[in-house]
Amino acid sequence: MLNSRLKALPDYPFPRMRALLSDIAPGDPSGLNMSVGEPQHAVPDFVADILDRERAAYHKYPPVAGTEDWQEAVAGWLERRFSIAPGHLGGDHLVPLSGSREGLFSIGFVTIDRRKDGQVPLVLMPNPFYQPYAGAAIGANAEPYYVNAEADNGFLPDYESLPEQVLRRTALCFICNPANPQGSLASLDYLKKAIRLARKYDFVVVGDECYSEIYDAEVPAGILQACMELVAEGEGDKDNPFHNVVCFNSLSKRSNLAGLRSAFMAGDPVIAGEFRRLRNYGGSPLPLPVYAASAAAWRDEKHVIENRTLYRRKFDLAEKYLAGRFDFSRPAGGFCLWLNVGDGEQATRRLWQEAGIRVLPGAYLARPGQNGVNPGSGYIRLVLVHGEDLLEPALAKIATIL
Ligand SMILES: Cc1ncc(COP(=O)(O)O)c(C=O)c1O
Repeated sequence: MLNSRLKALPDYPFPRMRALLSDIAPGDPSGLNMSVGEPQHAVPDFVADILDRERAAYHKYPPVAGTEDWQEAVAGWLERRFSIAPGHLGGDHLVPLSGSREGLFSIGFVTIDRRKDGQVPLVLMPNPFYQPYAGAAIGANAEPYYVNAEADNGFLPDYESLPEQVLRRTALCFICNPANPQGSLASLDYLKKAIRLARKYDFVVVGDECYSEIYDAEVPAGILQACMELVAEGEGDKDNPFHNVVCFNSLSKRSNLAGLRSAFMAGDPVIAGEFRRLRNYGGSPLPLPVYAASAAAWRDEKHVIENRTLYRRKFDLAEKYLAGRFDFSRPAGGFCLWLNVGDGEQATRRLWQEAGIRVLPGAYLARPGQNGVNPGSGYIRLVLVHGEDLLEPALAKIATIL
């Protein structure tokens, strides 16, 4: 009576980690949870004010396509952030989402057909990866195809080198940029190559860009920006520069609003139109006060700049305690550290046992790659979401214990 295909999805990493630690008492009950990527910085004040001001609108069913104000705010932000000339992006290119996770999961239903090249379709994803990518594949009757993102390829999956028969079967491909968990950035050149591949083999390429506003020295490129550059260079379709390409972004990390559940998909209007049509059946649009507060958040950069400054200071702290150890590299983007500790599960247990610090074993974020080896086994992931006052002692303990 249950859908047996879903058994192909292992339990989510967090319950697995809790089970791993269930027989151990935490060394320090007031330790720190560094496993969940939930930003702990302050919510911008104006967001709470708008939610309150607009509260009378909670009685209304909100529009699936978003309000005009929200559409303008999101399109305007994308144009400014990714050098997209006005006129290329509007409501037709957008899908509002209650957090990007649900969209990254349901994009599979929108884009994966029964067969591709006469076979079960494939979904390409980096390995390790954000777990809903595998949900998107399996939920839509396709097979995940894990492409290792390791130190020797700069933690970027090399999709171009995949065999022809794999690319022909591919229906969907995920790029996480900046990458969770490794913090690497995909260059515009990398993104352009992925777009060319998607068009050549007729699959959809997704840029998961929810960490795009948290970065160190280099400003992360966006996949829609890469589409516009291709058109400027005479490639692609001027009338639909985003053909086969979509990006996802979110207020969760950019604006410390993970609990607001406010995000969007943007790009190819054919995909966006079909996605909006589907969401009339099973989607959960954002409440009107949330559309209003989100529009204001996308229009404001001041809080985003302040937020980024806080993360850079935390990168400094991480560097102070961990440089030269565990193959530490200062994240170019995002807020995760990906530390090579030899045995990720064992290190997770030790940090919990000795200091009450929770981290995630890297193996839970990855699957055995095409070579049969799980590329995350030697790693732990920890997130720099807390304030410096909590973070600094925790980093010092991690450096001592491991
Ligand atoms: C890589 C990546 N993509 C997407 C998301 C989803 O974020 P949200 O659903 O809060 O927009 C997360 C959250 O942790 C993430 O790490």
